[in-house]
Amino acid sequence: MDTQEIEREFSVDIGNVSSLEELKAVRTKYLGRKGKLSTLLKSLGSIPPEERPKVGRLANELKEYIMRTISQKEEELKEKMVGSDGEEIDYTVPGRIPQWGGLHPLSIVKSKMLDIFTSMGFALREGPEIELDFYNFEALNIPKNHPARDMQDTFYISDNVLLRTHTTPVDVRVMKEEKPPLRILSIGKVYRRDSDLTHSPMFHQVEGLVVDEGLSLSDLKGILFEFAKKIFGRDLRVRFRPSFFPFTEPSLEMDVECVVCGGKGCRVCQNTGWLEVLGAGLLHRHVFESVGYDPGKYVGLAFGMGLERITMLMYGLGELRTLFENDLYFLKQFGGGMGV
Ligand code: DAH
Repeated sequence: MDTQEIEREFSVDIGNVSSLEELKAVRTKYLGRKGKLSTLLKSLGSIPPEERPKVGRLANELKEYIMRTISQKEEELKEKMVGSDGEEIDYTVPGRIPQWGGLHPLSIVKSKMLDIFTSMGFALREGPEIELDFYNFEALNIPKNHPARDMQDTFYISDNVLLRTHTTPVDVRVMKEEKPPLRILSIGKVYRRDSDLTHSPMFHQVEGLVVDEGLSLSDLKGILFEFAKKIFGRDLRVRFRPSFFPFTEPSLEMDVECVVCGGKGCRVCQNTGWLEVLGAGLLHRHVFESVGYDPGKYVGLAFGMGLERITMLMYGLGELRTLFENDLYFLKQFGGGMGV
């Protein structure tokens, strides 16, 4: 083998080296006692004397080149094995598996709600959490100093500015801006001066509003019945009870058969067999008047519910606060992988 052949083979070999062990094998192959270079140098004796100096020089140059290249490669490989803090990296230690993030149960249920209502043609709208008294109360037929305010006490920033107690003011804002027909949904944080096992000062509501001509209570019932079926995933019994909200007339509440006992009666439904899930009604004419809609022409169907409450019922959760504690052992059970 002549110097050129050795050089060619060496450059292929060194190009394939990716570890110190492989480098060691290459070194032995070329520079070892029985390596290619020693063999070449030994064979110098058998070539014509006039060619010896030339071949000898080439062989020595090649040897130096190979030694240099190998030590450069060694440096390179060692550098790769050292972390930025200069410590050697042990590639044999098993890796740490990164933990996947997941969606919070409230986010999972929120996006289910969105899916359900957008499939019924509702468009999402937003309103501010810091709200004017007018939108939160007054336009909703809850005048200043009226006892109806007791139902929803809140945190005041000034006499006129407060943390909204429900998402119904979003309906008022949208009605003031847009003309019927309307079919809107809003989801967001609301605040009340309330804190015990079943109440927290901040929670979420989901609000829906449909305004058009010729609507009736049966349209409202149809929407809510469809919603209950879809969110709880089966054809459960629902019932509508008369109720009172200052901004609707008539007002009603919807109950679903207890998702825990199926209506037989248990601790969760306090032995009634029913669970209250939302409030609803036909918008009061005073609300239409305050946004400039003609109560003789249009009908408004409105409904509102607590996201936490629906989430607790869907997953059979006993305590509200588990939704706010951010305990990973609790949250991981929902497996809300991204994209759910
Ligand atoms: N805003 C009410 C509450 O927070 C819930 C509600 C009841 C919303 C009836 C409505 C409705 O839109 O029509 O208790």
